[in-house]
Amino acid sequence: MKRVIDLQRKTKEEALDLAKEILGFIESDTLTEDQKKKIVSDSVDNFSEYVTKAILMHRKSVSTDFSVVEWEDEGAVFRDTMGDEYIDCLGGYGVYLLGHRHPKVVQAVEAQLKRYALHSQEMVDPLRGYLSKLVAYITPGDLQHSYLVNCGTEANEMAIKLARLATGKKYFITMENGFHGKTLGSLSASGKAKFREPYLPLVPGFQHVPYGDADAVEQAIRMLIASGETVAGVIIEPIQGEGGVNIPPDDYLPRLRQICDQYECLLIADEVQTGMGRTGTLFGVDHWNVVPDIMTLGKAFGGGVMPIAAMVAKRKWWGKMEENPFLLGSSTFGGNPLCCAGAIAGIHTILDENIPQMAKEKGDYMLKKLKEIQSRHADILVDVRGMGLLIGMEFAENHLGYTLAKQLFGQKILVGGTINNATVIRLEPPAIISYEQIDYVLNCIELGIAQLGSPVSK
Ligand SMILES: Cc1ncc(COP(=O)(O)O)c(C=O)c1O
Repeated sequence: MKRVIDLQRKTKEEALDLAKEILGFIESDTLTEDQKKKIVSDSVDNFSEYVTKAILMHRKSVSTDFSVVEWEDEGAVFRDTMGDEYIDCLGGYGVYLLGHRHPKVVQAVEAQLKRYALHSQEMVDPLRGYLSKLVAYITPGDLQHSYLVNCGTEANEMAIKLARLATGKKYFITMENGFHGKTLGSLSASGKAKFREPYLPLVPGFQHVPYGDADAVEQAIRMLIASGETVAGVIIEPIQGEGGVNIPPDDYLPRLRQICDQYECLLIADEVQTGMGRTGTLFGVDHWNVVPDIMTLGKAFGGGVMPIAAMVAKRKWWGKMEENPFLLGSSTFGGNPLCCAGAIAGIHTILDENIPQMAKEKGDYMLKKLKEIQSRHADILVDVRGMGLLIGMEFAENHLGYTLAKQLFGQKILVGGTINNATVIRLEPPAIISYEQIDYVLNCIELGIAQLGSPVSK
């Protein structure tokens, strides 16, 4: 029988009762069995009725006949309401480089929370200045000024706006299969028709070219200039994440740097996913010693605890900002003290615990073992590639990867697909994952692939 939900506005008392019940869950140290069951069934109902039912269909946690609802996390695992533990090899698509609730990050955030959480908007808030200074310390070359925001797509919006503001030019060269977020500017830069089509026309002035092909970038710039247009910048992920973990040729980024210098446009590196150590160096561009004009950071930037992102630029592009600091944006929550505390502690931990090196060593280990697995199942697993702990497993057909991901979830391992390339399953575990956990994951992957059998074309 179809359940009928009363959608009329509720009384104040009903709202208070609901809020009180939820706060009871949040604030209790342990849940009763009835509470655990209620949270699971409420969550499924709430997503269906008040969030989006379709999200449930995309969640691995509801792809089995029971529903797994996440409730707590630490290190390389999260636990559901029932206490079952899952190894996180998806890593929040890059967020959990330091693992879940790294104690040093939590400590800093808690300490700041006891002092003040959000800024006055009008007085000078010290942590925003300190974090920006720290970012200038750790980013390549003479990157200097930070604009702090709340998420990756917002950081890219700021990069796009700054490039136009600073150069007075219009066009951007962006990449096929690139992903920069889903707000209108970042989506215009992204390279997948499926997500762009419903919103066309997007922001004008984005010319897409194949990823990894520096000649194509130069040709696009030349053609635009020859037809009277102007080019403000080239937007690039040093390694494409959502596009399917695509690693460019070694001369690609150095050549893009040279092309941008030659045509006087800005090189914008989107390090939202590759930044902070994930690929085995602090930033993706460090693999090729390239200094971009603008870099964007997000995901792991908040230490895996706080949502914060940044757009960092060289001083020479900052002039218009000195004329009017609010021309670019005036984010209410951007760079708030709580998030800055998380980011500062995150950076300290990444440097202090040598996280990029850890990501490199564990990534090399995983990649080597995965390549061995691939050699035994080459008809199913057609490629394995990655740098550090950004690893992609490419399957012969879409459904093979998804079936394996589902199987792995049954073995209490979470892995991710990529938004722009459905044949690729991504492995992005925290750098603090243990070798024992890695070996368990690899073992389950091999067993899972063996069970997939030979691919059948659909
Ligand atoms: C390279 C890159 N840029 C931007 C974004 C968008 O970040 P957010 O989801 O925080 O807006 C992502 C997200 O996956 C990303 O991978």
